Order: sequence, then structure tokens, then C-alpha cells
Amino acid sequence: MPVKIAPSILSADFARLGEEVRAIDAAGADYIHIDVMDGHFVPNLTFGPLVVKALRPHTAKVFDVHLMIEPVEPYIAAFAEAGSDIITVHAEATRHLDRSLQLIRSLGRKAGVSLNPATPESVVEYVLDKLDLILVMSVNPGFGGQSFIPSALDKIARLRRMIGDRPIEIEVDGGVTAENVGEIAAAGAQVLVAGSAVFRTPDYRSNIAALR
Ligand code: DX5
Ligand code: ZN
Repeated sequence: MPVKIAPSILSADFARLGEEVRAIDAAGADYIHIDVMDGHFVPNLTFGPLVVKALRPHTAKVFDVHLMIEPVEPYIAAFAEAGSDIITVHAEATRHLDRSLQLIRSLGRKAGVSLNPATPESVVEYVLDKLDLILVMSVNPGFGGQSFIPSALDKIARLRRMIGDRPIEIEVDGGVTAENVGEIAAAGAQVLVAGSAVFRTPDYRSNIAALR
């Protein structure tokens, strides 16, 4: 099965975000990965729902919104209304993961959960029926351009077995390059987030093609 590529606009030019989103759309992105950071759950700050809403008219592609914020539940409705298609919360940032996932689905959006590198895959075991996507962090969240943490491969393989034939996508985020995509896909990931690997040169099309 071909992998999906989700360029992270964290590595885009923030002064020209709309243009950058149109460029990765034209270059063959499957999802637009939007990293939301709050300076509390992670040591960096990025965008809020108003930015997601402003970007919405620039593409029809899936908005894959990765919320690195705590608390997260009070903001889920705003991100849904802003035009997010997939809303992913961190297991470490909600006390009530089951409720957070139910809330996302009740708003008609796909529900994702993200796991930090040190978080075991077992935290999703009892919410599999409420999940559309599992985002495995292969770096500690907060910044682009970090190195892939190899233990993510074992976690992906374990999740693949746990998921069985349920329609849940496994997405990997952090340090994805043309050199390691082969082993990541072989472990069982279907969606690859890439920030620096896509935006490192102006030829986004060939950077995405190299990953695929
Ligand atoms: C990190 C973000 C990632 C980041 C990936 O907290 O969640 O999406 O942008 O960047 P690269 O691909 O450069 O590691
Ligand atoms: Zn991300």
C-alpha cells in the first residue's frame, strides 16, 4: 500500500503560509500537517484556530491538526469549526482520553491520539474503537529538524499488531527522511509527517517524491 505524505507546515515560511500550503498541495501532499504548540505542553509556540481557519480556503486537502496543548479539551470545538479534518490530541495532555476522543467524533471530525517517545502503546488499548489515527512521535515534540528516535519502529510494529484489521492509520512524526522511510513503512506506518525533509529546498515536489 502506498504511504501518505503529510508535510508539516512548521518548517514552512510563516510570512507566506497560504502560499506555502498551496505549494505543498500542488507538490503532491496527501495531508497538510498543522503543529499546534502552546508553550506549556511543549516548549514552543505556533498557531491557533484562527490560523487554521485562514488557511482553510487555500486547499481542499485533509487538515491533519496535531494539538500539542494542555489542557486540550476546551479548544477542540474551535479547531473543528476552523476546518480541521483530523484532530489529534496527546495521550499525555488529557486526563480523560476516552472523553476527548468522543468529543472529536461528536463534532464530525476524525479522532487521533499521539504518543510521546516514552509513552507505551498500551495507553490506546481500550480506546481503539474510538480512534481513526495513532500518531507515533519519533522525536520529543516541540521542534522540527530533530533526529529520529529508533525505538519508534518497535512501537509502530506493536501498534500494527494491536490494531489488527481495524480502520486506524498509523502516522509517524519527527526526523522522517528519504533514508529512513523504508524501515518506517516496513514497521507498519501508513502516514509520514515530514517538515524539514519537504521544505529543505524549494523543490517540494521532488522532496515529496523522494519520500514516497
Ligand atoms: C514536532 C512536530 C513535527 C515536526 C516534524 O513537534 O510535531 O511535526 O514539524 O519536523 P521534522 O520532519 O523536521 O522532524
Ligand atoms: Zn506534528
